[in-house]
Amino acid sequence: MNADARALLAFDRVSRSFDGGHVTALRDVSLAIGAGECVALTGRSGSGKTCLLNLAGGIDVPSAGRVLWQGRPVVARREWTALRRNDIAIVFQEFNLLPTLTALQNVELALMGGGLSGRAQRDQAATALARVGLAARTGHLPAELSGGERQRVAIARALVRRPALLLADEPTGSLDSANAETVAALLLGLPQDSGMTLLMVTHDPALAARCPRRIRMHDGNVVSDERQDREAA
Ligand SMILES: Nc1ncnc2c1ncn2[C@@H]1O[C@H](COP(=O)(O)OP(=O)(O)O)[C@@H](O)[C@H]1O
Ligand SMILES: [Mg+2]
Repeated sequence: MNADARALLAFDRVSRSFDGGHVTALRDVSLAIGAGECVALTGRSGSGKTCLLNLAGGIDVPSAGRVLWQGRPVVARREWTALRRNDIAIVFQEFNLLPTLTALQNVELALMGGGLSGRAQRDQAATALARVGLAARTGHLPAELSGGERQRVAIARALVRRPALLLADEPTGSLDSANAETVAALLLGLPQDSGMTLLMVTHDPALAARCPRRIRMHDGNVVSDERQDREAA
């Protein structure tokens, strides 16, 4: 068995182009991410980070190559839908909360259709909000929360189903530095605290430096893939 076959998520020579091949966002990218890894994805604007993340979550499909989950290629849209329901969650720069629902209701939405009773849904949503430090804010509307709190609600919504993989695209990009730090500490703690795998796009070098593994992209290529020396850390 090779390393890719043991990986939680792997890219096997993945390319993605747009506009009939005029724009190439990803070029022949191969990489493997193991369970429990904490990975930063860096690179300047337009280098292909969001494209890679979207392919990792099955929001987009490759033009060539394969994306594998636990060693098996994922192809069908319904397989991706099932993975996003059970195993993969995504946090975006913009929090995408529904403005007319409370924090608790926004998190509960992620559990709808999962066969839980209303009470179990509420309990699990409340537990997820407590985990991100928002136990006292469950009844607030997004407009009544700070940016950092809104992002923490979005993280609670992502965590409530206990995904194996959390994908985050510039999760601190819209936050002031104090809120960014709270959110960063929360996300970076997840692999250690719960064994969750984190793949996080960031253009903040200080944030990337706190991840044990850093993948850097340029012009659709992975140009470096560094692991922190754990002995030295
Ligand atoms: N839907 C699309 N149609 C055309 N070009 C796209 C599309 N999505 C991304 N691109 C292009 O692909 C490249 C990589 O984009 P993206 O992954 O969003 O970069 P990053 O997240 O690193 O800023 C850019 O040149 C971008 O303009
Ligand atoms: Mg992007």
